[in-house]
Amino acid sequence: MPDFLVTGGAGFIGSNFVRHVLDHTDASVTVLDKLTYAGNLASLEGLPEDRFRFVQGDICDADLVDYLVADHDLVVHFAAESHNDNSLRDPSPFLHTNLIGTYTLLEAARHHDTRFHHISTDEVYGDLELDDPARFTEATPYNPSSPYSATKAGSDLLVRAWVRSFGVRATISNCSNNYGPYQHIEKFIPRQITNVLDGRRPKLYGAGLNVRDWIHADDHSSAVLLIAQRGEIGETYLIGADGEHNNLDVVQSILTMLGQPADAFDLVADRIGHDLRYAIDSTKLRTELGWAPRFADFTAGLAETISWYREHEAWWRPQKDAVEAKYAESGQ
Ligand code: NAD
Ligand code: DAU
Repeated sequence: MPDFLVTGGAGFIGSNFVRHVLDHTDASVTVLDKLTYAGNLASLEGLPEDRFRFVQGDICDADLVDYLVADHDLVVHFAAESHNDNSLRDPSPFLHTNLIGTYTLLEAARHHDTRFHHISTDEVYGDLELDDPARFTEATPYNPSSPYSATKAGSDLLVRAWVRSFGVRATISNCSNNYGPYQHIEKFIPRQITNVLDGRRPKLYGAGLNVRDWIHADDHSSAVLLIAQRGEIGETYLIGADGEHNNLDVVQSILTMLGQPADAFDLVADRIGHDLRYAIDSTKLRTELGWAPRFADFTAGLAETISWYREHEAWWRPQKDAVEAKYAESGQ
């Protein structure tokens, strides 16, 4: 089993992936993470010391990246600035990390001929109308809307160019919206769960009718592990679990599951350029690599996630007031 270098492993999906790899393989894992506001060492507590190592650093630090990539068989690249709302307030860290960081890693992978898996998002494809029967496939043209999704689209194109021009052994995956434990409370589902737990009202942007295609982070992890090991070099795989729901339905489910009236939410200012709907067709991943999600029932996965936030208040409480104060500045 190869040794993994996981960038962004102290973040939401990265930390879930590290646990997944340690639980399901005998590989060793090194995490490289800058510990921005979104990174949290508490998300990596209790991992086996003989198979897990943490390095604090920036993926734009070429010397550090080259040194670490040289020492591993496989790079799985999660590190990114990941929140659309932040990218609308200040795009600059998104350009630094998502573009220069990916470029820096690609150069190291090229130099050492190290296999590389790039984590990306369905947002690179733009959005769909609510009544459009179409879903995104690997052939959908790129059409990103926000500074965040534009930098992710750019990073995907860098990976494709390094495959074609320099023979880098890379794969790409574009996944839909993740939910599950250890997600930062700035994001939609954990923000609303912790709002209700904290006696605050959930906040819905616009009319709450935008649709996201939800997948549990552990299902994202199983797909990434499969693609990083068995995916065809140069190929892109879309990851999704047929979990389309509009935001209003999700908020009402959270309120009901927490014993509150289903209308106890506030409609607030909409996001600028708010993508209407995302939907993934993951046929290629399912048929070519035999992947299937374990959390096929979104309602059950959401209930489990609510329990996790209820039981892990110490993990999210220190950030709650600051997150809400930042949203209040933009009327959200
Ligand atoms: P996150 O914001 O929770 O975590 C990002 C991590 O990257 C943090 O630990 C942070 O400290 C680290 N990081 C940021 N800049 C860094 C730098 N310059 N050097 C080193 N580390 C740095 O993000 P997430 O939601 O876990 O997303 C992880 C990846 O998955 C991202 O690439 C994102 O685009 C992609 N993705 C996310 C979703 C989703 O629903 N959250 C869906 C599809 C794809
Ligand atoms: O589709 C994949 C993407 O999903 C990832 O690439 C991003 O990293 C990840 O953050 C996520 O992006 P979204 O913008 O879809 O996620 P977010 O949690 O910010 O918002 C989900 C939906 O909920 C979106 O329609 C905006 C809405 N929303 C969000 C917040 C924070 C609200 O209505 N109220 C809120 O308070």
